[in-house]
Amino acid sequence: MAQEVRGVIAPGKDEPVRIETIVVPDPGPGEAVVRVQACGVCHTDLHYKQGGINDDFPFLLGHEAAGVVESVGEGVTDVEPGDFVILNWRAVCGKCRACLRGRPWYCFDTHNAKQKMTLTDGTELSPALGIGAFAEKTLVAAGQCTKVDPAVSPAVAGLLGCGVMAGIGAAINTGNVGRGDSVAVIGCGGVGDAAVAGSRLAGAAKIIAVDIDDRKLETARSMGATHTVNSRETDPVEAIRELTGGFGADVVIDAVGRPETYQQAFYARDLAGTVVLVGVPTPEMKLELPLLDVFGRGGSLKSSWYGDCLPSRDFPMLIDLHLQGRLDLAAFVTETIQLDEVEKAFERMHRGDVLRSVVVL
Ligand SMILES: NC(=O)c1ccc[n+]([C@@H]2O[C@H](COP(=O)([O-])OP(=O)(O)OC[C@H]3O[C@@H](n4cnc5c(N)ncnc54)[C@H](O)[C@@H]3O)[C@@H](O)[C@H]2O)c1
Ligand SMILES: [Zn+2]
Ligand SMILES: [Zn+2]
Repeated sequence: MAQEVRGVIAPGKDEPVRIETIVVPDPGPGEAVVRVQACGVCHTDLHYKQGGINDDFPFLLGHEAAGVVESVGEGVTDVEPGDFVILNWRAVCGKCRACLRGRPWYCFDTHNAKQKMTLTDGTELSPALGIGAFAEKTLVAAGQCTKVDPAVSPAVAGLLGCGVMAGIGAAINTGNVGRGDSVAVIGCGGVGDAAVAGSRLAGAAKIIAVDIDDRKLETARSMGATHTVNSRETDPVEAIRELTGGFGADVVIDAVGRPETYQQAFYARDLAGTVVLVGVPTPEMKLELPLLDVFGRGGSLKSSWYGDCLPSRDFPMLIDLHLQGRLDLAAFVTETIQLDEVEKAFERMHRGDVLRSVVVL
């Protein structure tokens, strides 16, 4: 029997979000229905609402979530009703050329639930990143459910489902930050601060946080930044070089994703250093760099999808480190809110007032 629950939809381009009754089908083969306990508000939800991702309105928003598996469809063996899970938006297929080469974190054929959730009049919904978790329950592919220790609070756990994992992974997976490295992070929102926290976890000796907002720099310091640079007041390339003996950082992470921040990252790294692009650019953005500098500075220029994470490997490990007091994931939760406060949370995010607002259900 399909169920009716409350959920937050974006009805059309730039229209305010609203609560609607959502019809959640019973899970089919390979699917699961999850009772959502918490879901963070991510910049990508706002992009969906603004029509910046695609035009498949109406969207069922929300994708940084944790909850309890309620029911599973035929053939599902990895999770069962009652399991506490974080939802991931890259359920690996196990069969594509990346998976077959033993690099499932790059999976080129990730999947979502096949059935559609709808409004009561039958209108099909597009769940944000194949999740749609600003809702009491949601239907996902079983592979999108990653079991973790239920001792963690759902509001904290859910954040690993997107931005915080993207940031930590940009540092520890994509950037391969290691003991003694110098790291600079440009843009210290939820993703950038997670890159700072990930760099600290990996043993970086120097972590330079760059932002245009002093409030963000203060938070970055509490997450592990050893130095801060306000790039509205100071040239960040000069500042990062000065702080690293005149050379530049081993790894520079661009958590903004604009041509100017990428250029700063490119020139603020040491010879043979690594640039990691984790911020998401928009279609009209272009980059121009002297090809000789690309060659002459050596090293690597990388992009980081979802922190190059493998949910089954990284989620339980990071939750364990959090429960042991070695990674303060709770620091990312600025406030907890109700389902009907998502629109207000978007405004606060836009003003830079929060790292994460988390809807708790
Ligand atoms: N690669 C992925 O898989 C992935 C996953 C989630 C989010 N993201 C992307 O990461 C980016 C950051 O997300 P967020 O949730 O942290 O956003 P956010 O809005 O919370 O943070 C952005 C930060 O960048 C700062 N900033 C803006 N312009 C700047 C500039 N020119 N120089 C320095 N700092 C600047 C802001 O002050 C803010 O602190 C977004 O583009 C988001 O879409 C990527
Ligand atoms: Zn695959
Ligand atoms: Zn997100």
